[in-house]
Amino acid sequence: MDSFYSIHGLKRLEGTVTISGAKNAAVAIIPAAILAGEPCVLENLPNIADVESLRDILRGLGAGVDMTEGGCMRIDPSTINTHDATSNEVSSMRASYYLLGAMLGAYGEIELALPGGCVIGPRPIDQHIKGMRALGAKIYTDESRNVIRAQATKLKGAEIFFDVVSVGATINVMLAAARAEGTTVLQNVAKEPHVVDVANFLNMMGASVRGAGTDVIRIQGRKKLHGCSYSIIPDQIETGTYMIAAAATRGDVVIKNVIPTHMEAISAKLMESGARVIEGDDGRDFYLRVTMNDRPRAVSFRTMVYPGFPTDLQQPMMAYLTTAGGTSVITENIFEKRFNHVKELRKLGASISISKRVARVKGVEALRGADICASDLRAGAALIVAGLMAGGETRVHNIGYIDRGYEYLDSKFRAIGADILRVDEEE
Ligand code: UD1
Repeated sequence: MDSFYSIHGLKRLEGTVTISGAKNAAVAIIPAAILAGEPCVLENLPNIADVESLRDILRGLGAGVDMTEGGCMRIDPSTINTHDATSNEVSSMRASYYLLGAMLGAYGEIELALPGGCVIGPRPIDQHIKGMRALGAKIYTDESRNVIRAQATKLKGAEIFFDVVSVGATINVMLAAARAEGTTVLQNVAKEPHVVDVANFLNMMGASVRGAGTDVIRIQGRKKLHGCSYSIIPDQIETGTYMIAAAATRGDVVIKNVIPTHMEAISAKLMESGARVIEGDDGRDFYLRVTMNDRPRAVSFRTMVYPGFPTDLQQPMMAYLTTAGGTSVITENIFEKRFNHVKELRKLGASISISKRVARVKGVEALRGADICASDLRAGAALIVAGLMAGGETRVHNIGYIDRGYEYLDSKFRAIGADILRVDEEE
């Protein structure tokens, strides 16, 4: 089946959109529930393909997993009966690497297919492995099968200094250390909002994780954890995508269920480009209102680890800047090959040149619709933003990537005035 989004752009977005639970927190917290040994109930999970894949992967290990309407999932890990996580489903999803920390922590053993996921350049997991080895795990790589085997009779707390700041490695080692014997100190860690969310979840299960959100995390290992109920934070990247789309269509959109402090780097850049961003509290939710009336001014930025500008919003922000007045210079510091969306934006008339990690975006007067293809999740979001800005029809293909991370994307955009339809064609 070839599915695509058909967008007729140049419609001003207006109204209210509510943000879903954070994908990057969900994909870590679902495997982390294995550590409880007892049932956990997760709330505010986004209805996205990555969450469904993890549900199936956990069921494949023998866990009981029930999903109910409204983003609730009950996970009972007590029936897990295999440590073999080598299915295609595991290898096709990058975040399945969190099974390494969760299964090592809970069972001292896992066989794991090496992670796939979005194609945004080399994404090694050497820091995850370094951390697990420091905790005492033995790790073997079977390159012929693209599988790693990890085994530990007993995990023991350790001091670990990460060579690069990695979200995945920080969370993964935190998971294993939560059940290790003694104290683990992690230095040079990632501070992203979902690192803090995972730490809070671990603490709700009885773990002792201190310092998440700073450069040093200290974990006092526990022999046992217990079940709990936990509600996932709102998605920082989905929030940013709607903020950018609002400005890109010279719109006026209230974005509800957000944590404004997570959005400061994006708000600052949008304001620098001429948009108004107002924070508010309606008594129930925090919200951000983004209003834009004029052509944006060019702005330059570099992607950085949190609290800097997130790499996951570099691509949608670039789409926005394609029609800005002047030239924007965008430096991608996290994933050197994260420019696969550029050739698709050029098909819409954008003027972008690339030199290594730097993109120069020369603002054009207008974009015009074309057939374009998503190459990864956030590239897909960028192409949606560009389609909303383009005259005529834009068709965004390869939308399986977008389904991985955006809940109800088309209906959410339609509700704020976009002309966007999902078309599912039989081949
Ligand atoms: C996570 C996010 C992803 C986001 C990225 C950066 C999830 C599920 N995904 O991905 O959306 O774009 O953070 O914010 O949360 N690196 C190493 N060795 C390692 C691990 C990473 O060299 O062992 C490098 C990577 O190549 C990259 C940088 O560190 O250059 C950051 O990667 P990392 O933070 O680990 O990204 P992910 O956890 O894969």
